[in-house]
Amino acid sequence: MTAVSKQVQVQLGDRSYPIYIGSGEIQRADIASHICGQKVLIVSNETIAPLYLELVEKQLAGKQVDKVILADGEQFKNLDNLNLIFDQLITSHHDRKTTLIALGGGVIGDMTGFAAACYQRGVAFIQIPTTLLAQVDSSVGGKTAVNHAMGKNMIGAFYQPQAVIIDTDTLSTLPDREFNAGLAEVIKYGLIVDADFFVWLENNLEALLNRDQQALAYAVELSCISKSRVVAADETEQGVRAILNLGHTFGHAIETFQQYKDWIHGEAVAAGMVMAAELSVMAGDLYSADLARIKNLLTACSLPIAPPSGMAADDFMRLMVRDKKVLDGQLRLVLLESLGSACVSDQFSTADLDEMLNKTCISV
Ligand code: NAD
Ligand code: GLY
Repeated sequence: MTAVSKQVQVQLGDRSYPIYIGSGEIQRADIASHICGQKVLIVSNETIAPLYLELVEKQLAGKQVDKVILADGEQFKNLDNLNLIFDQLITSHHDRKTTLIALGGGVIGDMTGFAAACYQRGVAFIQIPTTLLAQVDSSVGGKTAVNHAMGKNMIGAFYQPQAVIIDTDTLSTLPDREFNAGLAEVIKYGLIVDADFFVWLENNLEALLNRDQQALAYAVELSCISKSRVVAADETEQGVRAILNLGHTFGHAIETFQQYKDWIHGEAVAAGMVMAAELSVMAGDLYSADLARIKNLLTACSLPIAPPSGMAADDFMRLMVRDKKVLDGQLRLVLLESLGSACVSDQFSTADLDEMLNKTCISV
């Protein structure tokens, strides 16, 4: 059966936009219809450009298409590399009607979005995400940023794209480790808002791991539906949007502890989601049988379900105070009220938190 194209709408009033999802979507979606001017700047990196840049360029016949190919890696998501995008825009005389296209994973998407938010006080941009993580999370919802030497995503803006074009074929070249890390974010949606989707993931994991196109398109669509609903309810994270960060408080502590050198983001989030789930069981909200199901599903995706060895409870406490969800010095955590329902809480028991951290960090 031929994989069909799906469309999800992010409902944000006059800033609403479509997400196109499917196999071959770069060729099928009418990219040019989302571009109002004559000039386009494609931002990509040295890994992705040789694979997909030509395909995107072919859809832009008749436009002036300029390119910036950045070095590959989280360490290049900074103001210096952002400046390379501005250099190219100014050198090639791009005006306010220009459109930037982000072709890549979350690093390229976040940087291009932020460049679009800043250039001449805001120009249009389109997301063409090529990692699973970017397709189900970072390309949707308008969080854009670069890192500062003292903190991840510290300089950024909420700035929505004109459209998101998700071509699931691009996942065929994604390394297994990156693919599995993206699955952690897919599982997250089952945990926070959609218990039926969690069951679907349990029953269809083999097809997903084999990158079956129909299974992939369905999982990406359901993830985008969940994310777009949460974003529509709380675009700038004044409240409910924080549930999208399930596992991230613990996960960011792990990434910082490892100085971003060992585990990749989705791996740290996987271990962090289990830690949040453990705490939810201790609070009497989540069934232990459901915690076991969460661990089984993550393990089947070759994802970690406990903190890395060498990390102690004190390391978590020290690093978690820097979390962006800390308000007035009070740590807030995303917890599970049940499988498929999450809340943000500062009412957790600190004794439970200590006990959970000491229990899960036993390998130290
Ligand atoms: P990434 O962008 O670094 O991509 C991972 C690796 O895969 C890179 O080496 C990349 O070159 C390569 N790659 C990408 N697509 C490929 C393809 N189709 N085939 C082969 N290789 C490919 O990492 P990521 O996981 O996509 O994104 C992580 C970034 O996203 C972080 O900077 C994080 O802060 C950000 N993020 C942002 C949001 C948001 O809401 N804006 C949400 C989650 C994460
Ligand atoms: N990735 C979390 C968010 O978009 O809010």
